[in-house]
Amino acid sequence: MQNFEYCTPTRLIFGKGVIEKLPEVLGGIGKKVLLTYGGGSIKKIGLYDKVLQLLDGFEITELPGIQPNPKYDPSVLDGVRLCKENGIEVILSVGGGSVLDCSKAIAAGACYDGDPWDLISYKVKARKALPIVDVLTLAATGSEYDCGGVISRTETNDKIGYIDPLLFPVASFLDPCYTFSVSKKQTAAGIADAMNHILEQYFCEDATLMNDGFCEAGIKSLMVNGRACLDNPEDYTARAEMMFVCTLACNNIMSLGNSDSGWPMHGIEHALSGYYDITHGEGLAIITPRWMQHILSERTLPRFVKYGVNVFGIDSGLDGWAIAKEAIDRTYAFYESIGIPMHLRDVGIGEERLSEMAHHIAANEGLDSAYVPLSEEDILSILRASL
Ligand code: NZQ
Ligand code: ZN
Repeated sequence: MQNFEYCTPTRLIFGKGVIEKLPEVLGGIGKKVLLTYGGGSIKKIGLYDKVLQLLDGFEITELPGIQPNPKYDPSVLDGVRLCKENGIEVILSVGGGSVLDCSKAIAAGACYDGDPWDLISYKVKARKALPIVDVLTLAATGSEYDCGGVISRTETNDKIGYIDPLLFPVASFLDPCYTFSVSKKQTAAGIADAMNHILEQYFCEDATLMNDGFCEAGIKSLMVNGRACLDNPEDYTARAEMMFVCTLACNNIMSLGNSDSGWPMHGIEHALSGYYDITHGEGLAIITPRWMQHILSERTLPRFVKYGVNVFGIDSGLDGWAIAKEAIDRTYAFYESIGIPMHLRDVGIGEERLSEMAHHIAANEGLDSAYVPLSEEDILSILRASL
């Protein structure tokens, strides 16, 4: 078991109606609020009006229009400027992972005099960040319980995971009812994203029995509850458990003491959405079974056998290679069954830029030290197999 440190200072406020506590929580932090949100879903579900009504007496500045795969320019830059101009004391993110990730970059940029890209690109370490509170409306990323944000810079095709302990939200409001309106496409992408967060932790060199059980239960829960959410979008129990698993799936709590896998599938996917602006969870679902196939070997076989037997209930008496193949096929079939397009071509990605992306990934994502090290050639081969 590896050494580790763990500290997640975020207060989770979970369940139906918890939004009523928003004024109390926010009031303890500051009165000058930057309210960040996306393209309008929070207005459609009445959450925008509810937040404004609850925050009567607060001084609110708004940053609307944050896009999926949030952009440095204009959203992060506009947010930083608004914080500085208005003496913002706290950022309130209302929306999905993209709004929250953007808010995290703004929180750090607002306390820095130079170009915020210095921080996101790790040229300069942030010394301070504004506090963040979020009301989550989409179960997927786990951003509500971690200290990372993923920011895209269109002109360079960069999509960078910006991680700093200063960026943990102070409090996350998690009311599953706000996820009832999430489309089938985004619900399925959320299931795939969170499943992949767990798989990234599960497929590693050393794992404890405890963590394996935690991960296996998490994946099974996502498969069962995710499907129930798709069948009945207003199934509170299913939406609630899905939200809870997603929240736990990305802050490393499921792999404390395991060796680090290097998160190879995320390394590859970030280039896909950096170059083509595709939906993150869909990109991951496409890459996952091809990556699995690529890394299957004598060395990794026992992990695949364990995954196949414990997650899919495949007969442990079968030959190990047969179990592994079946486990990969079932992973693919599950994603397909929840409506995810399973080829890069289906999401508008052709052969043209695969080599360029493989080069970009190899140069920037450090995958030569992943659980199974991936060279540029390996990455290209996984991308080709995903076409
Ligand atoms: O913009 P609006 O109108 O709000 O619509 C959004 C958006 O179009 C919509 N939506 C959100 N809540 C809704 C809703 N529609 C109806 N009802 C609701 N209640 O869903 C669309 C997608 O939203 P987005 O925030 O982009 O989705 P998600 O939460 O999956 O976030 C994806 C981003 O998170 C990053 C991804 O790379 C991607 O940029 N990630 C962040 C991580 C982190 N911070 O730890 C880890 C992940 O691995 C991931 O990389
Ligand atoms: Zn992810």
